[in-house]
Amino acid sequence: MASTHTRDPGTPRHVAVIMDGNGRWASRRALPRHLGHRAGVKAVRSTVEGCARRGVEALTLFAFSSENWGRPAEEVARLMQLFVEAMEREVEELDRNGIRLRFIGDLGTLKAEVRERIAATEERTASNTRMTLNVALSYGGRWDIARAARRLAERVARGEITPDSVDEASIAAELELAGSPEPDLFIRTGGEQRLSNFLLWSLAYTELYFCDVLWPDFDDDELERACRHFAGRQRRYGLTSEQVARV
Ligand code: IPE
Ligand code: IPE
Ligand code: MG
Repeated sequence: MASTHTRDPGTPRHVAVIMDGNGRWASRRALPRHLGHRAGVKAVRSTVEGCARRGVEALTLFAFSSENWGRPAEEVARLMQLFVEAMEREVEELDRNGIRLRFIGDLGTLKAEVRERIAATEERTASNTRMTLNVALSYGGRWDIARAARRLAERVARGEITPDSVDEASIAAELELAGSPEPDLFIRTGGEQRLSNFLLWSLAYTELYFCDVLWPDFDDDELERACRHFAGRQRRYGLTSEQVARV
């Protein structure tokens, strides 16, 4: 079994994915949209396994955005049902493979049934260390930053910290992904080249990879292509390429 110690130097520590294109995958087959979401579960399984095998430490998947609540009620209900079923069906295998699950987002907006399943899934896998799988549900990047700001403001109001101690590190420490390395590689399937309010703060220096393949068709070969793209990038963080080559 691969562990973080076997990670190739060109392998990202943290991969973040916008799983887009399920609806179009279904429409092209004259199927209802919800069957596209169902078909996407296989790609989730393959991506989780593929990342764990490559020694990725954290994988963050965008499953449902704060804006997705505006979709037709039936699609939202089908998605919630699918999340519950997928957690029930997959938790054992994930646990056996050493995957820790965490859910990030405004979870209070979810129905009790979904929240209970989330709590059970997180608890069951809490001690696993091979890879952390963060699932973003009812998540918005702006919501995350606003929440961090509110928490810091509350601490200032209680007199625990002073306003001048609010800096990049203290904001980052209040975000949902606090404690994870920042994503190295961002992948968006489905052809759109936008962030759609995903991890706005943490993606500041992430390498972006967009592909046209629709999410249900994203398999290990596609993941390999994305990882190769990443391995070929020079990350400069504002420096010159000569400076970076020297270190
Ligand atoms: C992504 O696929 C899944 C969710 C947003 C929940 P879409 O449902 O957005 O698929 P397209 O973009 O309509 O094809
Ligand atoms: C982003 O996809 C959200 C998820 C994949 C969960 P959308 O399909 O909602 O994004 P837009 O509407 O094309 O920006
Ligand atoms: Mg979409």
